[in-house]
Amino acid sequence: MKIGVLDARLESFKTELIVVGLFAPSEEVPDELKSVDVRLNGAIAHALKGKEFEGEWQQFRLVSTLDKIPAKNILLLGLGKKEDVNLELLRRAAGLSAKIVRDFCGITEFSTTLHNVELLDASKQERAQAVAEGSVLGAYQFIKYRTVDRQKIKVIQSITLVGDGVEPSVKKGAVLAECENLVRDLANEPASNLKPEQLADVAKELEKLGVKVTVYDKKGIEKLGLAALLAVNRGSVNEPRFVVMEYGSGKKIALVGKGLTFDAGGLDLKPDDSMFTMKHDMCGAAVVIAAVKAVALLKLKVHVIGVFVATENMPGMDAYKPGDIVQTFSGKTIEVVNTDAEGRIVLADALAYTEKVLKPDAIIDLATLTGACVVALGNVCAGIIGRDKKLIEHLIKSGNVVGERVWELPFFKDYHEQVKSEVADVRNLGLIPRSGGAITAAAFLSMFVEKTPWAHIDIAGTSWSDADLDYVRKGGTGFGVRLLVHALENWGE
Ligand code: BES
Ligand code: ZN
Ligand code: ZN
Repeated sequence: MKIGVLDARLESFKTELIVVGLFAPSEEVPDELKSVDVRLNGAIAHALKGKEFEGEWQQFRLVSTLDKIPAKNILLLGLGKKEDVNLELLRRAAGLSAKIVRDFCGITEFSTTLHNVELLDASKQERAQAVAEGSVLGAYQFIKYRTVDRQKIKVIQSITLVGDGVEPSVKKGAVLAECENLVRDLANEPASNLKPEQLADVAKELEKLGVKVTVYDKKGIEKLGLAALLAVNRGSVNEPRFVVMEYGSGKKIALVGKGLTFDAGGLDLKPDDSMFTMKHDMCGAAVVIAAVKAVALLKLKVHVIGVFVATENMPGMDAYKPGDIVQTFSGKTIEVVNTDAEGRIVLADALAYTEKVLKPDAIIDLATLTGACVVALGNVCAGIIGRDKKLIEHLIKSGNVVGERVWELPFFKDYHEQVKSEVADVRNLGLIPRSGGAITAAAFLSMFVEKTPWAHIDIAGTSWSDADLDYVRKGGTGFGVRLLVHALENWGE
């Protein structure tokens, strides 16, 4: 898809459609449309008179220009009350407009002026970046396996932002959104076609961008001693991978991702409805790959290390069993109470290896870790937890800026007591069933990070969407990429 900038008057250039945002109540023709409206003999003023369109959020109205100007259509898009409009709402409006253009109008090229609405607390550049992000995210679709009437499937080919002085911002927004769309592609890809080996191959591609990528196969993992990863992998016929990516120099920030390319639950098999979407249990890893990719593409001045563990969790013949005691890289032992709480087991190795061998200044892990986090927070925000207040505050702030919100969960000592085991060092399930599951999972993880500032983000609820929402598309969402890149870019602030 092409995304560009054009500095021109709206009545002067050829395009299939121009998106224009209007605040509610939208009684007057906005300034930027006045000269267009003169050419259209007042068609826009007429459209704004009726009760059908009042500029309410998500309302829209299509006005044909009847070839009186080179642009063929004007899409009036309601933004709601001016005081409620912020960058995230513009991003959402852009995503919504891309969907309307494609699915309602059947058009594959359009121009937009959404970023030209004035907001009190956001610069023109910030608005353009958000609109570029929302447009590219909103135009996303996963159609590679559809073969019937393929030529009829509309795909947005080209988006133009009308204005000046925003080209670098638009490029940046497009890079971020495309990296996020990569996460969506990986999440949506059927698990039988995206095994640990293929996920590692995607990371390997980053070498082209100057990222150093080391991929450990099963033998390599055995040599490193990642025994916990090997234990979870035992039920699967597909070999695991452990991947380390590195880019840039300076203060070292490690991103660690859970890469379960499929989570059947293991011998504690999941019921069908919970298993159905478990091809996306690798979103933590995918977000780490995509964030490193974005950092490299944008040539940000940061030192980032991306780490992920990739395996399937299957109930094969040699699968690890409830009651097993698993060895780990750190030397600590894990009592397996439930084989479906596998994410924390593989992350135990990833975190300990990262701290002890890679020695970063901070660690942020992302994982589709617990159903409990979905119960607590839904798909609106991710859970964040850890011991380092400053790091957590920085990530919460970054999330608020980019429209990927994270909410802190409590981390009292009492929760840590609940993952103590009598037969091993730690148990992979809290003592009290279905109680504080997102927090006890984090308490488990904290056993494997000794002193490095660390924060854990549970993206189980935010990584997948059952419905289309503004710029979110049904399936993988890509949540976390903008958040991480913003946090890295503004490190130390
Ligand atoms: N991958 C799941 C968590 C998950 C649930 C991710 C829903 C996305 C959406 C994880 O491995 C898991 O199965 N967790 C169990 C843990 C339980 C057995 C303690 C859960 O949350 O049910
Ligand atoms: Zn599981
Ligand atoms: Zn899982």
